[in-house]
Amino acid sequence: MIRNAYQVAVAEQQPAAVAEAAAAEDHIAPAPRVSVQAFCETVETAAAVQAAGEDRRLAKAHVKIQMGGITAAVEAYRNSATPNVIVIEAESRADDILGGLDHLAEVCDAGTRVVVIGRVNDVALYRELTRRGVSDYLIAPVGTIDVVRSICNLYSAPDAKPVGRIVAVVGAKGGVGASTIAHNIAYVIGRDLAVDSVVVDLDLAFGTAGLDYNQDPPQGIADAVFSPDRVDSGLVDRLLSKCADHLSLLAAPATLDRVYDFGAEAFDSIVDTLRNSVPCIVLDVPHQWAGWTRRLLVSADDILVVAAPDLANLRNAKNMVDLLRAARPNDRRPYYCLNQVGIPKRPEITPADFAKALEDQPLAAIPFEPQLFGTAANNGQMIGEVSANHKTAEMLRGLAQVLTGRAEAKRARGSLLTPLLSKLMKRSA
Ligand SMILES: Nc1ncnc2c1ncn2[C@@H]1O[C@H](COP(=O)(O)OP(=O)(O)OP(=O)(O)O)[C@@H](O)[C@H]1O
Ligand SMILES: [Mg+2]
Repeated sequence: MIRNAYQVAVAEQQPAAVAEAAAAEDHIAPAPRVSVQAFCETVETAAAVQAAGEDRRLAKAHVKIQMGGITAAVEAYRNSATPNVIVIEAESRADDILGGLDHLAEVCDAGTRVVVIGRVNDVALYRELTRRGVSDYLIAPVGTIDVVRSICNLYSAPDAKPVGRIVAVVGAKGGVGASTIAHNIAYVIGRDLAVDSVVVDLDLAFGTAGLDYNQDPPQGIADAVFSPDRVDSGLVDRLLSKCADHLSLLAAPATLDRVYDFGAEAFDSIVDTLRNSVPCIVLDVPHQWAGWTRRLLVSADDILVVAAPDLANLRNAKNMVDLLRAARPNDRRPYYCLNQVGIPKRPEITPADFAKALEDQPLAAIPFEPQLFGTAANNGQMIGEVSANHKTAEMLRGLAQVLTGRAEAKRARGSLLTPLLSKLMKRSA
């Protein structure tokens, strides 16, 4: 494979493990629709900014890159308006940086924010930059995620409440229990972890969240998605139905009087509105591959793919994980879990084979328990309500902890596997 200088630099700077560690340690809110122009001096920094521009958190921003550093920036803006953000790479000494910035200030519109990337690590320089109104100073070499964080942080007030994390749950195939797991995870997050959460039922025609939480709200997500101009926090608040102290539902109508064809951006404003006020948003994404489902998955903070242990699920889960990894190179990889494992007499693909194909352990392997799940579904209850001490309820709590960043995936993975499955995994390894 022939790679250009940008790709080589990105690959060297951002090995997957580094990206994952960075993604795990902080939560960066996406930037709004802003224009960003970078003036770089080195190919490494240009590559990092380029990769940042392709990150999901800067999907709405418009990022342009050129070489030439501060001199090129001053030249460029002599006769044209400045963008929302200018990123300047300045390889030179502190005095030259400050002098160059003074020139830039003369041609820079008020309101444009300036981020400087330099090599000099010096408090005096930092103070001078702050005094001149520079918004952020990054010390080279910078990684993709450093650039993403810096630009996004310009638009999230430092004293603002932490914004909501989006967890998207999707099935590798229809009927594998993705919705059931999504609803139970949200229930645990609200009830046991006491984190305010909202479940968004995106299966408008057939969604079961209303049934599963024993709710019959008169309004829900349809009222928002069909009137995009009216979507604001007031409307979304009114459409939520409260299921428990810390858990609300944005329910699907589950009626067939209209059809549900959506554009790729149909749910953007609803999700953005929720993100501003709710710490945890669980998206119950139906098993479809449409522009809007892909967009919701790609832009989520974390993804859980639910798969049953058969060949079609294995293929689909692998395709989904591969595609989402490629679309989110600076994020933790999508998690997956197995569900409905151990149906009597059914030949199954082992968790070890899944792990091999997906190059990652499942977060959990939830056994097939028709009595437990059937009782919960028919009574409009959660698994934890039917049987709080059941080992499946324990697994669901483990999943919720990992997905909210309260437990390490590795540890949870080990402890979530039932002894039988661990044995199976050893045997087939
Ligand atoms: N581990 C399990 N053991 C037994 N039954 C289960 C288990 N997990 C889910 N179920 C049952 O499987 C059925 C399908 O579940 P669910 O509706 O959550 O799947 P889904 O993947 O969301 O399906 P859809 O593709 O229709 O959205 C439900 O009746 C649910 O109670
Ligand atoms: Mg479903």
